[in-house]
Amino acid sequence: MLNRSPLSVVLDDIRDERRASVPYPPGETRFSLPRTRRFAQEPLEMLLESYERFGPVFTLRLLHSNVVFMLGPAANHYILVSHASDFQWREGSFRDLIGLMGDGLLTIDGDFHRRSRRIMLPAFHRDNIAASVDVIRTETERAIEQLEPGTSADLYDWTRHLAMRVAMRALFGLDPDSGRAQAIDAAGLFEEALAFYASDYLLRVFRGKRSPWGRMQVAARKLDTLIYAEIADRRASGRRGSDILSLLLDAEDEDGSRLNDRQVRDEVMTLLFAGHDTTTSTISFMFYELARQPSIAERLRAEQRTLLTDGRASAAQLLGGELPELEMVVDETLRKYPPAWVGPRRAVRDLDFEGTPIPDRAFVNYCSWASHHLPEVFAEPDRFRPERFTPEARAALPKGAYVPFGGGSRTCIGMRFGQLEVRTIATSLLAARSFELPADFTLTIRQMPTISPRQGLPVHVGVPVPSDAPPLGAVA
Ligand code: HEM
Repeated sequence: MLNRSPLSVVLDDIRDERRASVPYPPGETRFSLPRTRRFAQEPLEMLLESYERFGPVFTLRLLHSNVVFMLGPAANHYILVSHASDFQWREGSFRDLIGLMGDGLLTIDGDFHRRSRRIMLPAFHRDNIAASVDVIRTETERAIEQLEPGTSADLYDWTRHLAMRVAMRALFGLDPDSGRAQAIDAAGLFEEALAFYASDYLLRVFRGKRSPWGRMQVAARKLDTLIYAEIADRRASGRRGSDILSLLLDAEDEDGSRLNDRQVRDEVMTLLFAGHDTTTSTISFMFYELARQPSIAERLRAEQRTLLTDGRASAAQLLGGELPELEMVVDETLRKYPPAWVGPRRAVRDLDFEGTPIPDRAFVNYCSWASHHLPEVFAEPDRFRPERFTPEARAALPKGAYVPFGGGSRTCIGMRFGQLEVRTIATSLLAARSFELPADFTLTIRQMPTISPRQGLPVHVGVPVPSDAPPLGAVA
């Protein structure tokens, strides 16, 4: 796909659409630049409005293509589980990400996807993940020193740099303080590359050096120098650890073949992206909500005071459901603000969802963000209410209702790592600092392609004042 001109890709899309032998689901199917632009700015509002008008399956023409959206528990289950093999990722609406990540786990399908996932799964085994807790905590405590009480900071930017250091060390055994890693600002380069998704839809089809695509390529090549140098070092020295890079370098296929440098690079780039971007957004949105509702933050601190012996949570506590109130707050954050908010797919045959036909080759997206805001599934969806995720309330949710990590054979491979990271960073931050939002701050959300606070998260930094607030469960 990367070697084809954008014009021929667009023409193929139009041809595929014309060849459809069943109609597209109802919706707004006329070309409209204002609609396309509005979707880039406020997709959640548009999707919820369309759901009201057309029901759970509808079509919106975005730029040159009809895009089918499927919302709600049944639709999520259909795409992710019961009919997963009727869809592919690679030719869906986010195919341009291949320009950054190449053929990593996120962008591949079928047998290639199954084999790659099998190779990587051991690295995400619970014991391996649990071993990362010390690295995450050390990095967090080091980073907290930069958050001086009495000053202002951008908590989004702070978390992004922290999460990148954590990903480098915990996932790849890469030293973020080595000359090589320090020579580039990896977190900043990802921000530059992903700005492609913040650019105007029309500009995204251009491929020149100064286009958003061109800038994505420049950032990707700089990140490549770091990754390829590390691969070369490890191959030459034979140095290995329990990290994913070691696993990838030694992985053998059934026929004894190994991954080449390019394949290893693509997986590393994918995991660096997926492993830092999502956790950064989650921490930012969580602390935004906690700053607005300090009583919830206080109750989380009360839980920590009650359950943690030296103020530090063990991996078992963080992974094993032993900090229930923290888990509820993280779960509610991921309901209201699921960072990977849309799951892009392409149909590989004519389909039928509850009587609505969907044509072969249609772009089809599931959307956790909109699905998590359906009032018939989550009452008063705009309110941040961690109590929605008590074990009983959670068990009562319909299948497919809550999908912040996707589902089925493409469920987020880093889910446990991400949860451990978010909970560890949150625990340390809550214990050491408190945050207030500037009086004039209004949250607006951008998609790039994950969702995050558009202006970062400006906060005034303080230190928490001890209190005897009751735990969440005690509050009606
Ligand atoms: C709060 C943190 C995270 C959230 C909310 C999240 C969310 C998701 C979602 C929704 C998907 C599925 C996308 C789809 O269906 O198209 C996904 C896939 C993926 N995630 Fe995560 N993620 C998180 C953390 C991580 C971390 C820490 C890593 C790596 C260490 C990671 C690596 C991946 C990969 C490689 C895939 C592709 C899996 C596949 O297709 O087989 N994620 N993630």
